[in-house]
Formats: sequence, C-alpha cells, structure tokens
Amino acid sequence: MFLRVAVAVSGRGSNLAALLRTLGGGAPARVVLVISNRADVGGVELAREHGIPVHVLKDISDPEEWRRALIAAEAGLLVLAGYLKRVPAPVVREWRGRIINVHPALLPRYGGQGMFGRKVHQAVLASGDDTSGATVHLVTEEYDEGEILCQGVVPVLPGDTPETLAARVLEVEHTLLPAAVLAIAAGGAPVSVRHEGDGVNVPSPQSPAPRP
Ligand code: GRF
Repeated sequence: MFLRVAVAVSGRGSNLAALLRTLGGGAPARVVLVISNRADVGGVELAREHGIPVHVLKDISDPEEWRRALIAAEAGLLVLAGYLKRVPAPVVREWRGRIINVHPALLPRYGGQGMFGRKVHQAVLASGDDTSGATVHLVTEEYDEGEILCQGVVPVLPGDTPETLAARVLEVEHTLLPAAVLAIAAGGAPVSVRHEGDGVNVPSPQSPAPRP
C-alpha cells in the first residue's frame, strides 16, 4: 500500500522532478497523476517521460473535471507544485486536509493573490529581511492561507537578486516538499521543519512527531 499522489503543475516542474526522485521504488507514496492547466510545459513533458498519466485541464474552474481526474486516479493527496491557478472551491472543500502547496517564501509573509514567482523574491529583498525560505501548507479557499505544515529557511545574502534568492529557495523546496509528502504517507501529521546549518531538517517518515 502506498499513498497515491496527484501533482498539479503550471510550469517547468522542478518540484515534480524532486518528488519523482524521492517517491520511486519502495517509497510509501507514489505520483500517479499529473494535472496541468497547460499542455506545453516542462512538468507535463517530465510526467510523460516517466510514463505518468497526465490530465490537461479543459476548464480549470470546473470542479467536476478535477473530481473526475482525482477519483479516476484514486488519488489520496493532491500536491500543488508550482500550480499557479486557483483550485475550484468545491474541490478544496471536499479534499480539505488532503491538498498541499509549496510556496517560495516564509508564510504568512509574502503570500496571497498575485504573490508568485519573481514578485515574491522581489518583495523579500525590498523588505530587508535577512532570511527567506519555503513553506508547505494546507490549501484552503484563500491563496496561501492554510495551516503551515513545514518550513525551510535560507539566508538572504548581500548582492542577492530575485533570481539568486529564488534558486536558493528552490533548493529547499526540493527537499521540503518530498519530506512533507513522505511524512503524510507515514500517517503522521507533518511537523515543523527547522533549518539548521546549511540544510533542512526533515521529519522522519518513520516517526512523525505529533502536531504541535
Ligand atoms: C516554485 O518556486 C514554487 O514554489 C512556486 O513556483 C515555482 C515552481 O517551480 N509556486 P517548478 O515548476 O516546480 O520548477
């Protein structure tokens, strides 16, 4: 038995690639479906290369279309990995607690509608904050407002541009998101992830800590 994971993407799919690297073989979770609002993106190509079924949405706001795709794949978890559109509210309600998103900043700061991609890192740099990072959180009807499950922190360095900061944050996303999925698959509540030194502390999938 493994957790069947659907992954929604809108772009290049590097987080999907990180999930595929981690969730292979005997992992307790497996990517069984990739959903995208666009057919011509790296994430879709990657899924096809791995032989993973792809559903390109005809109508991104049609809850029935989402429902059909998720149910047909028998998905137990939906991961938004660079999916930049809104998941229809009825789907969010029906799947509450089973949809997670990765955001490239330390929520609750630098989130919300329109806060994606370069804009997030520009805002962090403009604020003068000396840290940024990635957040995995539950998805609710509002952008980036669901419960925070785990975070990884990176420094903001002198001379950073939105691009250099984005690259540093993305590296953390690639560890944090698979770790969160594994922790969920292990049946425990994902836990807060503290940054220590140069790495990210990930929850052990074997012994997930209790929710604080
Ligand atoms: C990531 O930074 C993610 O946090 C954000 O969009 C980016 C997607 O990257 N929401 P990728 O498509 O996974 O490479």
